[in-house]
Amino acid sequence: MDGNGRWASRRLLPRTAGHREGVKNITPVVSAALNSGVRAVTLYAFSSENKNRPKDEVDSLVDLIRKRLKPMTRELLERGARVAFSGDTEYFPDDVRAIMHDIEQERTDANAQVVNIALNYGGRSEIARAAKLASEHGEINEETIEKNLYTAQLPELDMIVRTGGEMRLSNFMLYQAAYSELFFTDTLWPDFSEDELIGMIAEFGKRVRRFGKL
Ligand code: FPP
Repeated sequence: MDGNGRWASRRLLPRTAGHREGVKNITPVVSAALNSGVRAVTLYAFSSENKNRPKDEVDSLVDLIRKRLKPMTRELLERGARVAFSGDTEYFPDDVRAIMHDIEQERTDANAQVVNIALNYGGRSEIARAAKLASEHGEINEETIEKNLYTAQLPELDMIVRTGGEMRLSNFMLYQAAYSELFFTDTLWPDFSEDELIGMIAEFGKRVRRFGKL
């Protein structure tokens, strides 16, 4: 969800106003994905590197999570989705972790569509963590690593959408992205619409995926 800061700067607003606007766009866009039959959506909401931003911005992002996570996920839970989290959530204050815990407990139906929120998430540390956990229980191989990724319960990562014009993954799901279809748009996250996502899903349907085979 890149581009919140630029969205705000272009309006002469503080970057935090862009993050607030970005949060408002989450439920409509995720609902459109779920309506299209997508089984799991992951939101890259706070990367492990975002912690290194100026303290004011980090504090305001954590506060936004504290205040908006529950209202933001309510509609998604009500429509039957399950909410999960990926990342080292130990980083967050106890009250924020309690909110995450409550939301995760609300629905445990294994067949429900999943809204997975990546918080203090980094792909490299996820792989290192999975390898360490796998080694504690025996052999390290693709199967045992996959079982220990945060996404162990989620389906294959089919498509990745990055808003805000940059053409890189920025440490997002490096293991899972092996054969994902990538979509980049210049649209800034607060302006990213349901229609643009639907267009990407339609294009995804047309792409030929060979997974390295002929
Ligand atoms: C990237 O834009 C966006 C982020 C670092 C934060 C995204 C977080 C949210 C939308 C809110 C999370 C809150 C909840 C409740 C899940 P940027 O700041 O890097 O934008 P720029 O590239 O234009 O500067």
